[in-house]
This record gives sequence, C-alpha cells and structure tokens, in this order.
Amino acid sequence: MDFQELIIKKRDGHQHSKDEIEFLVKNISDGSMPDYQVAAWAMAVFFQGMSDEETRDLTLAMAYSGDVVDLSGIAGIKVDKHSTGGVGDKTTLVVTPIVAAAGIPVAKMSGRGLGHTGGTIDKFESIPGFQVHLSHQAFLDQVNQVGAAVIAQSGNLVPADKRLYSLRDLTGTVDSIPLIASSVMSKKLAAGADAILLDVKVGRGAFMKTAAQAQILADTMVEIGRGVGRKVIALLSDMDQPLGRMVGNALEVREAIDTLQGKGPEDLSELCQTLAAHMIMLGGKAATLDEALEITRQLIVSGQALARFKKMITVQGGTLDYQADNYGMEIARIRYLLRSERSGQIIDLDALEIGRSAMLLGAGREKIGDVIDHAVGIELCRKRGDVVEKDDILAIIHGNDHERVQSILPQLLQAYKIQ
Ligand code: URA
Repeated sequence: MDFQELIIKKRDGHQHSKDEIEFLVKNISDGSMPDYQVAAWAMAVFFQGMSDEETRDLTLAMAYSGDVVDLSGIAGIKVDKHSTGGVGDKTTLVVTPIVAAAGIPVAKMSGRGLGHTGGTIDKFESIPGFQVHLSHQAFLDQVNQVGAAVIAQSGNLVPADKRLYSLRDLTGTVDSIPLIASSVMSKKLAAGADAILLDVKVGRGAFMKTAAQAQILADTMVEIGRGVGRKVIALLSDMDQPLGRMVGNALEVREAIDTLQGKGPEDLSELCQTLAAHMIMLGGKAATLDEALEITRQLIVSGQALARFKKMITVQGGTLDYQADNYGMEIARIRYLLRSERSGQIIDLDALEIGRSAMLLGAGREKIGDVIDHAVGIELCRKRGDVVEKDDILAIIHGNDHERVQSILPQLLQAYKIQ
C-alpha cells in the first residue's frame, strides 16, 4: 500500500477497506506519513465523505492508536460527557459534581481550547493550584474517594487524533462529519467510560451550522458507540449565541459556581440540568427523565452539588475563596463597558464573533501552544431578545491590555444585531 494511492482512491470517491484505514492510522500516529499527504487525504475525505463502515473502522483504529484507559478499578457505571465545542460552554464544571453527588462516578478527561472555542481544562486551570495532570492511579483513587475527577488528556491517548486534528485545524478540514465523529468517539472510547452523553452543538459558534447536519453527526456518533457496546445518548443544543453570560476562563468558572448554587443564567442552568439528568439516567439512578431532573434540582437546592464541586477542587489541589470577589481567582485590570449605539431589540448575538473576540483578547489560542490569560474575557450583559436603549451597557470587556481591548470593539459591536 502506498499513501499516494490511498489519497487518489479517496479523492476519486472510492471506499477504503479496514486494512487501508488501519494502515493510514498507523502511519499518521507514528509520523511516517508526511504532513502534506495526511492533509491531502483529510481534504479528500472532506469532499468525498466516508461510509458508516469506514467511519467506524477509522474510529476504532484511532481509539487503539495509543493508550486505552482502564476504569475497571472504579465501581459502578462510569458515565462520560462530551461537547462538540462552543463559546461559553462551561457545562462540564457544573454537570460533573451534580452527577457525582447523584452517586455516579465521573472519571473525565477533557481538552484545551483552540480557535474561537474554549476548553474545559483551561477553565479549571484558572483556579489557583488546580492540578490537571494526575497519575492513572491517583485519577482512579480520586474518583473512588470523591466521585469525580477531571484531568487533561494523557500524553499518549489517541495520538492519531492529536496529529490529524492539528493538521485539520490548519487545512480547513475540521468540519467534516466522519472526521469529527471519529475524532470525538475515538477519544471517548479510549477514555474508557461505559456510557457517554454527547452534547452536539448547532449554530454559528459550532462546527455544525444547521440542525440537519448536527443530527447526522449525532446519529453517526451514537451508532459508532452502540456498535462497540457502549450506552450512548446524543442531545442537540444551541450554539448560535454564546451559552450563559461569561466567555473567558476564570469568568466561566465563576458563572459555573453561581449555577451550582442555582443562581446561574437560565439557558446555562437549563442545559446543565438536562445534561446532568441524562447522565443520571445513563448511570442507572433514575428510570425517567422527570425523575432524573428532580434528583438534579434537589442536589442543587440542597447544596450537595456545590459541596461536591468544592471537594473535587480541594482534592485536586485548587484553592478558591467562596466569599471573595471572583471567588479568589485572578481579576483582569481593565473593565471596558461596551455601550449600545442604538435603541431597539437584540435580534441576534453571533457566538462566532464573540468567541473570536475573546480569543483575541487573550482568553483563547490562535494555535496550539499559545499562552492564554485566564483572567480576561467578555461578560455579556445583554443577549438575544433583550430590549436596549442607546448607551445601555451591552457587555463588559475584562482585559489586561488596552490595545487588545480597543482592537475587538468593532467586531463585538457587530456581533450584536439590534433593530
Ligand atoms: N472536537 C473534537 O474532539 N474533534 C473534532 O474533530 C471536532 C471537535
């Protein structure tokens, strides 16, 4: 087999055999296939797509391209969750302690943010002292002891995806359904959970811009997971405007803590409760969604969910001061009030523009390896549907650099459509 032959085969719309896919994945993982040929093959897949069989074979070959996590040292049904990425998505911070407080172990590996989308690990790292790297044994011990741990993906988990994803990111080949499905599901399968909840985002801030595309992605991922004996549920959720009001790492942790206390914004609270309830059902602690939602609400109202969050943070080395401003996390030096230039109703708030603005402010990475500033971000005081007068505050920009703050003003104003 040779790489060029396989690229041409896919370019011309033919189907790869399982052996061909395994050959490609092996050579992508060990670096034998050069960047330009991996990128050309990804572009061929982008245009020609893959059959269900090819997508499944690609997922499994990637899942076993490196270490596979063994969670058998944790008792009970291990439930994982994955979001396909968005702006202001801090749901893992809220949902993990709720589900753990319901008696379901959550042993979770999360990623860092790239481009306009944020990453859970970056958010946790806003918390002073919080350790995102634990040995396998420490990870298992913590889940057995506290019911939950969230750590960064280990060095050799799905190396094929690491290389393929970074090349896709540079070559305009991210938003391909078979490539996203195999990327997400290979990581979920390698991470070892028995049951998986997928939160598939739809809208401008998401990879899938329409509900129809998102549904195909969801069905593809569910099919792959169920085919290998995992329980999988997929939900579609809105990412046309950002989730919640905070975009930026420490700001999002603050909002997550508020939400755990029942004081979060409505859209975020509702989505977190829905996700948690589905995980509670997957974990076998409720027979119906209504029952699971009731358990979720009780855990929030009684303070048990927040208590579990505090415990998890402390055990992982983090220090928060729940009485202090911003709960003791770093605060940006500049607060710029973005005011409306007209009166009217906000008919649109573009998640992609907000995500890009937050990234330019320093909250995200343009490329892998960029250093981020945990304190900066955008606080959305007004969102879609709100009515504003001229000069009302639309958003507060939390920045550490005047030039960067000034540079994002035009695109932030454009993100708000008022009429
Ligand atoms: N998230 C992933 O993990 N992979 C993709 O390809 C897209 C989103």
